[in-house]
Amino acid sequence: MSEAAILPAPGPLATLRILRRTVRNPIESWPAAIYTSPMVRSRFLGQTTWFVSGPDEVQTVLVDRAEAFVKADAMRRGLEPALGQGILTAEGARWRLQRRIAAPVFRPSHVNDFLPAMLTAARALRDRWVALPAGTELDVASEMMHVTFEIILETMLSGRGDIDVARCERSIRDFLESTSWAIVLSALRAPGWVPFPGKYRAGAGRDYLRAMTFARVQERRRTGERHDDLLSLMLDARDPETGEALNDTEITDNLLTFIGAGHETTALALTWTLFLLSQHPEIETRMLAEIDAVTGGGALRSEHVEALGYVRQVVMESMRIYPPVAMVVRTATERVRVGGNELAPGDNAFVPIYAIHRNPTLWPEPERFDPGRFTADQVRARHRWAYLPFGAGPRICIGMGFALVEAVAILGVLLPAVRAEAQRGFVPTPKLRVTMRPAEGMMMQIYRRRPSTTI
Ligand code: HEM
Repeated sequence: MSEAAILPAPGPLATLRILRRTVRNPIESWPAAIYTSPMVRSRFLGQTTWFVSGPDEVQTVLVDRAEAFVKADAMRRGLEPALGQGILTAEGARWRLQRRIAAPVFRPSHVNDFLPAMLTAARALRDRWVALPAGTELDVASEMMHVTFEIILETMLSGRGDIDVARCERSIRDFLESTSWAIVLSALRAPGWVPFPGKYRAGAGRDYLRAMTFARVQERRRTGERHDDLLSLMLDARDPETGEALNDTEITDNLLTFIGAGHETTALALTWTLFLLSQHPEIETRMLAEIDAVTGGGALRSEHVEALGYVRQVVMESMRIYPPVAMVVRTATERVRVGGNELAPGDNAFVPIYAIHRNPTLWPEPERFDPGRFTADQVRARHRWAYLPFGAGPRICIGMGFALVEAVAILGVLLPAVRAEAQRGFVPTPKLRVTMRPAEGMMMQIYRRRPSTTI
């Protein structure tokens, strides 16, 4: 069955149509050839962009010759107004320092320390869902955003304090909506002051997010409180070479980066997983059997999560079909050979993860949802970079382990208690806004699975 309703452009599109499609949903402006060819060159308004889809070529761009590229201007222009020079947007020495500072928080041993916070948030959500009248319809996408937002605030900032969560979520949405305009305006080389629809709302959202985070940093500095969280780590960090500390703006940039990059992506992975499970009850049944076997039918505890291998496979397969980050973008800073082609300085290299994950030469029957693709044997038999939901190379997602543990823990708590059903025949449209969201949200009906929950 077809799990998505995206129609790639069959051939070259006229400039205006490309711009219109890019604002509406950038995936629609991607040429069909990138789903099968290792490299496709496209020239648009004097700018050369290479879509790099072959795993060997991806390895060259993101891993082997990573030093010959920077993040693309369109991406920087979209995100920098909110994230400044944080770890996601910075380059060179500035990026390296921030990555070194944040790394200890994301070591596997430390990520497991976050499990109690993850499980507490998941149980609160489960209890709320269990109490609903049977068949209540909810936007599961927004429910997943709430729970992962709660978790990211707890783990990175030791709690939400007086942060207005609903306003934050609205602000993030408004801001992300503006990013596809940023891409188009950057392609047109328009100056930053050029207006576009929603620009004021996006700016107000960004200002709220920055002010609320900045206040949190200052409060922590003023009170001198110490917690085992990312904020304390950044306040204490010193550059090993210069001994310099991060200032409050740099810490704000990074906290916002982690809040933004760290909750929406995982929420989307969970949303798409719940949708896919509603279409494939046999897979859900197998997950339930695994959870039951691991927990002995009791409550899911931190030490159980690692043993939920099949649940993890399901999350991996769902991120193949619907990768929360559908594309990573780079610009060459020097002449560099990729596959049989020579990229010139200034050329873009776009790695369309969504298209790579649906390439039929890499993934037989790519539209089919099959978690069996992620057994250890299957993974070993495939090219390492045929699958890259977290990117690759030095800029690979720092929160990869965190996200997987979190997604498995949340599913492990929710599934034995509740079932989420999509409307019959509903086919969601993936829409790209830095992350890949269901365009119409994800309305699903919630049913309690057991009359009285013991889990
Ligand atoms: C399913 C969930 C997630 C997905 C699919 C995802 C995906 C990605 C991808 C593709 C990149 C690379 C971007 C590029 O190369 O341009 C990235 C980078 C990043 N991610 Fe994630 N991510 C997820 C969860 C998280 C979490 C939970 C956190 C933190 C708590 C996080 C923090 C970051 C940061 C800070 C970077 C920038 C790293 C750097 O440039 O050094 N992500 N993520």
